[in-house]
Amino acid sequence: PDAQDMLMLQDFELWAEKVLSRTAWAYYRSASDEGKAFDENRNAFGRYFFRPRILTGDMNQGSTETTFMGIETSLPVFISPAAMAKLGHPLGELNLTKAAGDCGIAQAISANASCAVEELFEARKDETQPLIFQVRLPPMLLPFATLKSWRLTISKIYLNKDRSASEALLRKVEKLGARAIMFTVDTSWDSKRTLDEQTKRLANSAIMAAKPTNSDTAPAQGLPVGKAISGYQDHNLSWSDIAFIRKNTTLPIIVKGVQCVEDVQLAVEHGVDGVLLVRDSNRYAPDRDAYQLTRHKSNHGGRQADYAPAPIDILYELRVLRPDIFSKIDVMIDGGVRSGADVVKALALGAKAVGLGRPFLYANGTHGQEGVTRAIQILHEEITNTMRNIGAKKVSDLKPEMVGPAGPWVG
Ligand code: FNR
Repeated sequence: PDAQDMLMLQDFELWAEKVLSRTAWAYYRSASDEGKAFDENRNAFGRYFFRPRILTGDMNQGSTETTFMGIETSLPVFISPAAMAKLGHPLGELNLTKAAGDCGIAQAISANASCAVEELFEARKDETQPLIFQVRLPPMLLPFATLKSWRLTISKIYLNKDRSASEALLRKVEKLGARAIMFTVDTSWDSKRTLDEQTKRLANSAIMAAKPTNSDTAPAQGLPVGKAISGYQDHNLSWSDIAFIRKNTTLPIIVKGVQCVEDVQLAVEHGVDGVLLVRDSNRYAPDRDAYQLTRHKSNHGGRQADYAPAPIDILYELRVLRPDIFSKIDVMIDGGVRSGADVVKALALGAKAVGLGRPFLYANGTHGQEGVTRAIQILHEEITNTMRNIGAKKVSDLKPEMVGPAGPWVG
């Protein structure tokens, strides 16, 4: 079928499973362990319903335009950073950049993108097209390490080289015109991406064809895609790494993968400009009039800690517990967003914008640039319909009281 025949984002997923290579499908669709966090990402959206307003005037007038992180966008939606787009389509992230430019939305470029960052900046419609760059930090040289053997000496020098490469990369993307830096914090430890691991033996040649160009570490051989490309990630990240990024960029910093209200507060205290809530473990306990606060790792679209609850739930919790925080920091979510209604729910609760990962990879894999453009059109249509049917002409008309957990209101 043509891209125009796709009616919902899920249609792209159905086709992607049929037409993508086994390696690409397994890497994209993969979730960690039993995939419960992945399922919950999606299911949680189904627990929130609207409280529409009626008789709100002329719905012919209106707009889906908004601003997040100082970036003007035609839709409150951005392309989340997702690695290895060339696994799905030979032109890789280039198609995403061109479609985002045509449709007026922002794209976050993965640190493991399979196109060179220069190529993507070059492909922009014009210099105002917003691109965000996602960084992962490799380990840093420990200043007081004792160099006991030549072996240790070599490895420490190598690690140090990697951090200076991060400094150079941060400066390079700022010069190229990036609009923000996204610092991914939920992958400082490995996860078992089940489908990807099961498919690993088929992966080598495909990985080499789509390998990341923005890191000088070659993908390891004989591993599942996820593990092959993540060898250079630091296992020892802390809030002081924000200072490292701040020292090397003047761009706004978004921390991606914040998991609980306490860490949103810490992000504010560390001078972060935005947070992307990918996962949280905090849950409303219906039998008590209180929230149970615990900490877990986030799930990166269901790809890190399994059994972590959904981003829309932490957003709701943040709205209930810390309504003041939305004026201090820009809050975004991603994970499981598959329709315009999902986007509108998040916006009403206070998110400034919403990211999608897999749907754009699937659309790129099945129909290339045209598919990505169609996916964005679908979101545009669904967001417009949802907003106007609940009485909102523009994004600023969306209010927290317009959405809530399903079921009777209990006060
Ligand atoms: C990702 N994600 C991701 N995040 C990141 O910060 N850097 C990266 O390189 C990647 N790579 C990546 C690859 C693939 C195949 C997927 C599916 C995801 C996570 C991504 O940015 C986002 O958080 C999730 O994709 C959101 O969930 P949905 O929209 O895929 O459900």
